[in-house]
Amino acid sequence: MKAAVFHEFGPPEVLRCEEWPDPVPPGPGEIVVRVRAVSVGRLLDVGTRAGTNRYFRGTLPHVLGGEHAGEVVEVGAGVQGISVGDRVAVFNCLSCGSCGLCREGRDDVCPAAEMIGVHRQGAYAELSRVPAANATPIPDDLGFVEAAALALAGPVAWTQMEMAGLRSGDWVLVNGAASALGSTTALLACHLGARVIGTSRQAWKRDALVALGVEAALDATAEGFEQAVRDLTGGAGVRIVVEDIGSAEIWPRLQAVLARAGTIVSSGAFLGELLPLDLRSLYQQGQRLLGVRTATRQRVAAFWERIGSRLRPVLDRSFPLCEAAAAHRHLEAGANVGRVVLVPGDD
Ligand SMILES: NC(=O)c1ccc[n+]([C@@H]2O[C@H](COP(=O)([O-])OP(=O)(O)OC[C@H]3O[C@@H](n4cnc5c(N)ncnc54)[C@H](OP(=O)(O)O)[C@@H]3O)[C@@H](O)[C@H]2O)c1
Ligand SMILES: [Zn+2]
Repeated sequence: MKAAVFHEFGPPEVLRCEEWPDPVPPGPGEIVVRVRAVSVGRLLDVGTRAGTNRYFRGTLPHVLGGEHAGEVVEVGAGVQGISVGDRVAVFNCLSCGSCGLCREGRDDVCPAAEMIGVHRQGAYAELSRVPAANATPIPDDLGFVEAAALALAGPVAWTQMEMAGLRSGDWVLVNGAASALGSTTALLACHLGARVIGTSRQAWKRDALVALGVEAALDATAEGFEQAVRDLTGGAGVRIVVEDIGSAEIWPRLQAVLARAGTIVSSGAFLGELLPLDLRSLYQQGQRLLGVRTATRQRVAAFWERIGSRLRPVLDRSFPLCEAAAAHRHLEAGANVGRVVLVPGDD
């Protein structure tokens, strides 16, 4: 099969299409998927290729690609509930299933968890081999590109809102709302009845966010940001802030607009900056800081059952698989609103 492979860390050009062994046959409990679309992620893909993802544990040469969608072409021994021909979305996180946290239903923070495309070969390829437990059949009216865009971000956004205790009518501020994950969170929050403020440093992205349906789009780095949020929320601030970027410049401004008893959710920090934290404000106002690493298996299932195709992800652009380098350049340039995907067979 063809795969986009890199042999050394470096700029996007290290990604090259080449012949790669087919990942067959599937082992017990595994399936082989004909990949129809695979998401391009910021930290796990761009960061791993650049050599800046400190979670990378694979060996080179390596094939990236976590969340993806396609058709099942082979099924290993003991697989139940998934058959050849099924259209599936593949979630990227593999928990051990046996540690104390997995047994108590907190497989999202399993210390032995591995990620497809990081700890093992990924789906920047025509075929992938993955545990059947990571695949969920997708609704007929959802395309593969949309399913790949939702495969991880959908369940993570669902987890953010559930764990933060979102109620209909709440104000939610999503920092970096034009990002792949941020746009999914923003649209899911809207879908669940929240009043959503999105942020972006770019005016053209703020226009796009308003067109997507958020109530207001602001620049969190601009003068007057805090006052603008207070004006929108009648002085109270927002009940939930979602922050996945980790900017030391922006963080204090987000904390300043959090309402009493509010929650800041963190699901990523690719900038890797150390943040100032106003502990006085946190405890005096009964606020929570909540880490959401990923979704539990139970929440992946709940997302597809309850939301599924009712949430359409924001799609930025698809690139042919063999233009993976161009897709990485696009993301690194900050040129996307929503998800960038690779599509095998489009060359
Ligand atoms: N926990 C999980 O399962 C999970 C899943 C997916 C993603 N993530 C995390 O979510 C974050 C976004 O990932 P993505 O793939 O969605 O990203 P993406 O689409 O590439 O978007 C990147 C975002 O980062 C913002 N940004 C870039 N440089 C910045 C800076 N110097 N200061 C402030 N903002 C900056 C951009 O905001 P502007 O609009 O202002 O340009 C843009 O919204 C990453 O930290 C990633 O690790 C976590
Ligand atoms: Zn475990």
